[in-house]
Amino acid sequence: MAANRHFFNRKLHSLLGVIPVGGFLIVHLMVNFFATEGRERFTEQVKVMESIPFLVIVEILFIFLPLLYHAVYGLYIAFQAKHNVSNYGYFRNVMFFLQRVTGVITLIFIVWHVWQTRVQIAIQDIHPEGFFDMMVEIFNNPFMVAFYVIGLLSATFHFSNGMWSFLVSWGITVGPRAQQISSYVWLGFFVILSYIGLMAMFAFINPVDVAAIKG
Ligand code: HEM
Repeated sequence: MAANRHFFNRKLHSLLGVIPVGGFLIVHLMVNFFATEGRERFTEQVKVMESIPFLVIVEILFIFLPLLYHAVYGLYIAFQAKHNVSNYGYFRNVMFFLQRVTGVITLIFIVWHVWQTRVQIAIQDIHPEGFFDMMVEIFNNPFMVAFYVIGLLSATFHFSNGMWSFLVSWGITVGPRAQQISSYVWLGFFVILSYIGLMAMFAFINPVDVAAIKG
């Protein structure tokens, strides 16, 4: 009975990491990427997201609660003494360890990031027109730039490497060859998603002057 419950919790944790949490990470970084095209384009995209009906309820049901479950159960898994990976090689052992470490770093980052952005937007009633400047202001601090780079790379690594193990644990990549190809695919995915996230960050640090480009 307890084994059944454990199995169910594990599967739910795994699934929620992909849908909706992983899906949200991709959408979030893609919306931010519009900052590379300037303040107006970014604000336009933010407004599209803000126009989702019952946004707060959608955020709670499809982002906050799944993330909370994944994070709390993830902490339990991460600090469990059992590291039963002896049937994998050295590389996979390192990845297994990094999955847990990046989970914890990502959690610390997300808590701070949500406090600094989403909660401040609500408390200070900041409108989408002010979001770009809010990020510029945050990145005025070099410590914050370093913290966001670490947080971003932790999240993209955790998600990409998590997708590798998700495909194994759900029986999709079964043989060694499929798992090797999957390693390359998710490494490529990690590089691309990190690039998208970092470019957005640098767009706030060094905003493009669209008017000057258009002449
Ligand atoms: C951006 C937020 C996050 C995303 C997109 C995400 C995504 C994922 C994915 C896709 C997996 C693979 C599931 C599987 O192995 O079948 C995973 C595993 C894991 N996640 Fe997360 N996660 C996030 C945040 C967190 C946080 C905050 C923690 C808290 C410590 C955490 C802890 C873990 C752990 C320990 C595993 C490994 C499970 C295992 O090996 O059995 N994750 N995550």
